[in-house]
This record gives sequence, structure tokens and C-alpha cells, in this order.
Amino acid sequence: MQPIIEFLHVTREYRLGEETLRAVDDVSFSIQEGDFVVILGPSGAGKSTVLNLLGGMDRASSGEIRIKGQNIAGYSEQQLTRYRAENVGFVFQFYNLIPTLTAWENVALTKEVIRNALDADEVLGSVGLASHRDQFPSQLSGGQQQRVAIARAICKNPTMLLCDEPTGALDSETGTIILTLLQKLSREGRKTVIIVTHNTSLAKAADKVIRIRNGKVQAVEINETPLNVSEVKE
Ligand SMILES: Nc1ncnc2c1ncn2[C@@H]1O[C@H](COP(=O)(O)OP(=O)(O)OP(=O)(O)O)[C@@H](O)[C@H]1O
Ligand SMILES: [Mg+2]
Repeated sequence: MQPIIEFLHVTREYRLGEETLRAVDDVSFSIQEGDFVVILGPSGAGKSTVLNLLGGMDRASSGEIRIKGQNIAGYSEQQLTRYRAENVGFVFQFYNLIPTLTAWENVALTKEVIRNALDADEVLGSVGLASHRDQFPSQLSGGQQQRVAIARAICKNPTMLLCDEPTGALDSETGTIILTLLQKLSREGRKTVIIVTHNTSLAKAADKVIRIRNGKVQAVEINETPLNVSEVKE
């Protein structure tokens, strides 16, 4: 089966004065549709840069990023905007909700920019927040705010969900609830879910683990029988 995502010799360089920093250095990997993928690596390894390149929020210096066979590294700004709108749901460590909008309004906002957005109430229900729809972010717990952020991302009905340390600001019990939800979206919703985390034990729950260090892929592991998130010990 053709992979949904292929990185082929991708490099991302930053200019720092006279120096050139290779944040991503000749990275290649592939991901199948519906996979639950964990990206691991120390701070500064290039994990967020890989995720931003994949999400069309940053541009590679060289190499190809093929999504469903199309090289997005060669896209114009306009093509990239459309790619992000149609394919990418992003979940951040600190939720990035709009504080003056309710949970429902934060999710429903997607409808303003995305054609074929899903129904905000249905999506809020699917993350267990139907009864919290009219609360503002400040009136929700961290775990609930992150579920609103996930609802907002899946409201676009994206092909892939990119999550940069989605449990970084949560206690481990709440983190498990969030990761269980993300694994369920991959298993039952057939979404391709990619999670950047420092939690190495999550590797056992992943279909695929990509280990990154100094901008390079150190190892790619495939689990034939991944555990449920709830079975993974921190
Ligand atoms: N816009 C930028 N300009 C210059 N350097 C950058 C930029 N973004 C990232 N870098 C550098 O690229 C390297 C990789 O950064 P990245 O944010 O991808 O790391 P990370 O693996 O996500 O780290 P962390 O676990 O701390 O979030 C770092 O050395 C960082 O300083
Ligand atoms: Mg990062």
C-alpha cells in the first residue's frame, strides 16, 4: 500500500548569523494511513520542526515531502494554504483556545474557514464535552481544554492529526485520557495521528515509533501488536 506520508531526504536549515543550523538533517520515513505514530527525541532534536514541515507551516530547505504521492515541498503558498485546510489538524501543548469564545464557539469557528467542516456539537460530544459546550476555556480544566482543542482539530475532518506534546501540560491521569482519545481516533476513525512526546513509554502503544536525535532519524520501529494507551505505564 502506498504510504500517506513520505519524507525523502528532508533538510531544514536555519541561518544563525554566519552559522547554518541543520534542525532537520536528511530525514526519511514513511507513515501509513490510520497509523498511530509517536515521535521521540531529546529537546532540540528537531521534532517540532518535522511536525511543522509535515503540516505545511514551514518549508523544507531540500528534499521531498510526499502526501498521498504529492510533493508539498514544491507547493505555492496558495496550494499550501489549501493543503493545510483540507488535510491538517494541529493540537498544541498549551491548547491555544480563544479565551473569549465558549468551547462550542472555539470549535464552530472552523466552519468559517473550512468547507465540509463537521458539526461542532457532534464533535464536542465525541470528545465527551457535550455538557460543557457553553463554558469558556477559563472555566474548563486543562484536560477539558485540550479536548476542546482536539475537537477543533477534528472538526476540520482532516486526513492527519499532528500533536506537539499534547499532554505536556497535563497530569498523567488526564494525559492518559487524551492519548486514549487520540488512539481511538486512529483505530476507529482511521485518522493518521502523529504525536511528539517526551513520554518514552508511549512507544509501546504506537504502530510506529520514529526516534530523532540531532536532526537525524536514529531509528524507526514498527509494533505489530501495540498496547492500548491505558496499558502503558509512565
Ligand atoms: N525559527 C527558527 N529559527 C532558528 N532556529 C530554529 C527555529 N526553529 C527551530 N530552530 C532550532 O532548530 C532546532 C530544532 O528545534 P525543534 O523545535 O524542532 O526541537 P524539538 O525537538 O521540538 O525540541 P523540544 O523537545 O524542546 O520541543 C533547535 O536547535 C532550534 O533552536
Ligand atoms: Mg518541540
